[in-house]
Amino acid sequence: QTVQPAIDVFPSATISPVSPYLFSGFLEHLGRCIYGGILPAGPTNFPHTPRNPCPKDQFTETPKELLTKDGFRKDVIELLRDELRVPLVRWPGGNYVSSYHWEDGVGPKDQRKRRPELAWGGEESNQFGTDEFIAWCRETKIEPYIILNMGTGTLEEALRWIEYCNGTGDTYHANLRRRNTGRDEPHNVKYWGLGNEVWGEWQVGQQTAEAYAEKARQWAHAIRLIDPTIKLVVCGQTGLDQWDSVVLDVLADKIDLTSLHLYTGFGPRDRTQKEKEYGRGVYGPDAAEYSIEICRGLINKARVAKNVSKPIKIAFDEYGVWDETVGTPENGLEQYYNFADALAMASWLNVFVRQSDVVDIACIAQSVNVISPLITSATGYFKQTIYHPLHLFSKYMRDGVAVKVQVDSPAFAGETLPQWISPIKGQPKDLDVSAVLSSTDGKKTLSVAVVNRSESKSYDVPLRIAFETVTDVEVHELWHENVQARNGWGKEEEVSVKTRKAKWEGKWTFREHSFTLLILHLA
Ligand code: AHR
Repeated sequence: QTVQPAIDVFPSATISPVSPYLFSGFLEHLGRCIYGGILPAGPTNFPHTPRNPCPKDQFTETPKELLTKDGFRKDVIELLRDELRVPLVRWPGGNYVSSYHWEDGVGPKDQRKRRPELAWGGEESNQFGTDEFIAWCRETKIEPYIILNMGTGTLEEALRWIEYCNGTGDTYHANLRRRNTGRDEPHNVKYWGLGNEVWGEWQVGQQTAEAYAEKARQWAHAIRLIDPTIKLVVCGQTGLDQWDSVVLDVLADKIDLTSLHLYTGFGPRDRTQKEKEYGRGVYGPDAAEYSIEICRGLINKARVAKNVSKPIKIAFDEYGVWDETVGTPENGLEQYYNFADALAMASWLNVFVRQSDVVDIACIAQSVNVISPLITSATGYFKQTIYHPLHLFSKYMRDGVAVKVQVDSPAFAGETLPQWISPIKGQPKDLDVSAVLSSTDGKKTLSVAVVNRSESKSYDVPLRIAFETVTDVEVHELWHENVQARNGWGKEEEVSVKTRKAKWEGKWTFREHSFTLLILHLA
């Protein structure tokens, strides 16, 4: 039976204000993320082992005028601060953090210890440490979010780090920070994560859920003695695993958020599975929605059992499109995205907007060079295909309230998708939609984000806005005839957004494999 596509938006049925933190980022000491993306990297100025120098101008030194007074790349700061408006960044990892000792990365740079890098290989120079991260965050107007080393790190070391960052008294580590930075004010790091992917067998210091939960409970208690105002993020898995259930049950009364990680490009459980086909990639983010829905239930179960009245939110603090056979440790996880990946990115963001009553933080993994929307060379950068949906969402879908939508749509018509995409709901729909209502100077605007995921079919869709009249519409469309099209060095942006004004007639034609953002002005 054929389903007639239709979209109904209900502006008065609000889900939740959209958290600006849905557009957050992630920096890890991996490949050219820090050394190359945040600091310059050139033939003589490459503090990290250059396993993967940029193919474009690897023998060029970044000119001084492209750097801030602290030596950070200006172009990356400008893009993240002024265009993507990234509100929060997670650091220093990722897998890297599980053997990171923060004390190696503070104080005079020429005395910092070079260390073997256990997560991704090579060596770490520690030229970018806590004080550099905070200085970069200040310049970029970004809230810092630091992950603690729960692999090889000790509780005492973690407590020293928190005292170093947030201490305001006359204590040793607060004074050490003052000496190192030359300023009195604390770094004021509000968000701290209790370890990274401690469940993973690739982790230095893998633990069972029970052992981790016990340890994290002790850490949480002690951390709050140093700074009771901290927001603590516990290490979850994909949100629907036994790990998540055990850890939430033990820690529900000690934490503010639980962290979820998932990449499309491969499944959450089978990390060896290759998901190269269009369908699996573009419809893949439905798996995240399923994870969030299950995790919501696990959170509430744990809250009821422990009689916790305050909400626990989700920090989806690693998400994105990653084909592990393309972005490998050998190439510093540099993946060159195609047009289909941009559609997947738009679907990811739709999930977060629809689930914004429980998802408070979402960090794209990662912010520069490493499986990232942005690729730098010594003197420039280019925007990958996935940059564009992220930019549109951050600009138009953040300052408002997510509202309910009802979507009638044909479902994915290709081969059966893997079980993990939506084991309960069946085949994902072609049309994937979210909507945000905002109001400026008394004028209401409804932003409706529609991904038509069908590879070959365009749809004429009645788009009904309950109890509201639309005066006019602004359209932002991301489309390319070739789903394999990419952006790259030395060519015009192959994939970019086309913007225009249009007459509103209560329906819209969504082209095959397209992302359309309709900005509807309401009477
Ligand atoms: O983002 C790349 C890696 O993916 C991170 O280091 C790790 O946490 C995850 O497995």
